[in-house]
Amino acid sequence: DSPEVWSLILLTFSLQLLKSTYEQFPRQCITREVLGSKECCPVWEGDGSACGARSGRGVCGDVVVSDQPDGLQYPFKGIDDRERWPTVFFNRTCRCLQNFMGHNCGDCSFGYFGTNCAERRESIRKNIFHLSATERQKFISYLNLAKNTMSQDYVMATGTYSEMNNGTMPMFLNVSIYDLFVWMHFYVDFGHWAPAFLPWHRVYLLRWEIRCKITR
Ligand SMILES: *[C@@H]1O[C@H](CO)[C@@H](O)[C@H](O)[C@H]1NC(C)=O
Ligand SMILES: *[C@@H]1O[C@H](CO)[C@@H](O)[C@H](O)[C@H]1NC(C)=O
Ligand SMILES: *[C@@H]1O[C@H](CO)[C@@H](O)[C@H](O)[C@H]1NC(C)=O
Repeated sequence: DSPEVWSLILLTFSLQLLKSTYEQFPRQCITREVLGSKECCPVWEGDGSACGARSGRGVCGDVVVSDQPDGLQYPFKGIDDRERWPTVFFNRTCRCLQNFMGHNCGDCSFGYFGTNCAERRESIRKNIFHLSATERQKFISYLNLAKNTMSQDYVMATGTYSEMNNGTMPMFLNVSIYDLFVWMHFYVDFGHWAPAFLPWHRVYLLRWEIRCKITR
């Protein structure tokens, strides 16, 4: 309950308020084969098909990215793997339909719940300063849990595409859910200057909330 703890939590949150749904490496997509084909369309375990296509959750499709620069500071020069993400690594990924979301369309879009993601529910985000002692304890224990739980879905890149010999020598590490979010922030740092800064900020928080629910 010390001020340090609170400053740390606030700092953590202010540092991490960023983008997005795209800057991760799904565990199933880090093999030489997948990196070579550039097609990252993982199977959804629910029906055994890529992107949950059999259940109408999504389809595997070509990646379409904007050619617009991300910001004045970062005109495209073709030297940063994050430019035109994720095309350096993947040119086909899952496109989720309806209320489905995620690398294999196995998750629900924000605000939707239930097996078929058909249930709309409001979430209430409380001001951290207005939490009761019990709620605060719960929140901190979620952060701790996130710190100590390995992400099942995602891994972290430890090298650039070229350091990976254009994908023929994959370099990835397991990562805790908490560290995954910290790393996402680093990886998408130039999101700061892009026009979609505010929406990304929101998406980032929303993803945190979803992770907290999943790890509960
Ligand atoms: C995707 O990348 C693969 C492997 O480099 C290439 O063969 C294929 O033509 C690319 N597809 C598209 C749609 O760019
Ligand atoms: C990686 O791909 C780039 C661009 O296609 C090419 O110039 C380079 O020679 C490749 N490097 C290796 C190690 O295959
Ligand atoms: C990550 O952990 C899993 C399960 O412990 C293990 O099978 C896998 O080899 C690890 N992957 C990497 C990239 O270290």
